[in-house]
Amino acid sequence: MLLRTKKRWELPESVATDEATYLNRREWLKTAGFTGLGLAASGLLSKANAAPITGFPAAQNSAYQLDRAMTDEMDAVTYTNFYEFGSSKNIWRKAKALNTDPWMVTIDGMVDNPMEIDAADLVKKLGNMEERLYRHRCVETWAMAVPWTGVAMAELVKLASPKPGAKYLRMETFLDTDVAPGQKQSWYPWPYIEGLTIDEAMNELAFIGTGLYGKPLENQNGAPIRLVVPWKYGFKSIKSIVRFTFTDERPVSFWEELAPKEYGFWANVHPGHNHPRWSQANERMLGTNEMRRTEVFNGYAEQVQYLYQDMPNFNGRDLFY
Ligand code: MTE
Repeated sequence: MLLRTKKRWELPESVATDEATYLNRREWLKTAGFTGLGLAASGLLSKANAAPITGFPAAQNSAYQLDRAMTDEMDAVTYTNFYEFGSSKNIWRKAKALNTDPWMVTIDGMVDNPMEIDAADLVKKLGNMEERLYRHRCVETWAMAVPWTGVAMAELVKLASPKPGAKYLRMETFLDTDVAPGQKQSWYPWPYIEGLTIDEAMNELAFIGTGLYGKPLENQNGAPIRLVVPWKYGFKSIKSIVRFTFTDERPVSFWEELAPKEYGFWANVHPGHNHPRWSQANERMLGTNEMRRTEVFNGYAEQVQYLYQDMPNFNGRDLFY
């Protein structure tokens, strides 16, 4: 174990390694202070906060299948990472304060077709939504398998029409300290930023998520639109996006700015490249606590390996942090 002073924003090793502190779903719900009935009454699963993106439920694209049981919906919508609302996983009530309708999105930078557009209109322009079953692997070692609704990110790239010199896509989450108390914590470099290469954004798996379990995204899962890149650690999948900027400079993401050796730009999932403070060999399924061996590129090597195989450091650590 690394012996040094922890910074205020650092994740404790226990989020990844301490089985005793990991709560199974039943225990967690009890700790959070509600029962199944209470959840229904609280309106947790209501669509009151949903953006007016229409087309739910969307037809499932059968090309994307799971190799494991689907995660229970209640687990996926109540155990979330959304630091804008606090560093606890239990922020779903706080996230209700976010108004996602209307939701203006800017597409700018090195593009032929810059625009400011409401999220629902943008999604309509990108084509028919579809449902895809994807694995999700958090860098903290928890994992889930869920049905996302959304549209291919490649469609957004085509709509924006990047200029020849553009190489990266930088994405930005909203900034509003009045609704998001976490953004008052000045030691974080708000707003949340993430980035992909344009080639990654064009990959068939890169997805703009608009829904989960056949319904619009709950705020805590990143309403109204978020990124879903299942071969990378979950922190790359930025939530509640307000801006897509095409650029020739590699974006420095939120977590990379805080700790580049722990949360780098590439962040591809790999069982053999450990996080400096914990192992990445295994993952724990949300809700069931089932332990599974972590897979290279989270099991999506066939679809994404071509993006990286000619890079000089393909087998080195760089691509995985
Ligand atoms: N996006 C923003 N804006 N803020 C965040 O704190 N957390 C990331 C990612 N996107 C985060 C974010 C992390 S660490 C993970 S694992 C996933 O969202 C979690 O997605 P989920 O909560 O919907 O499961």
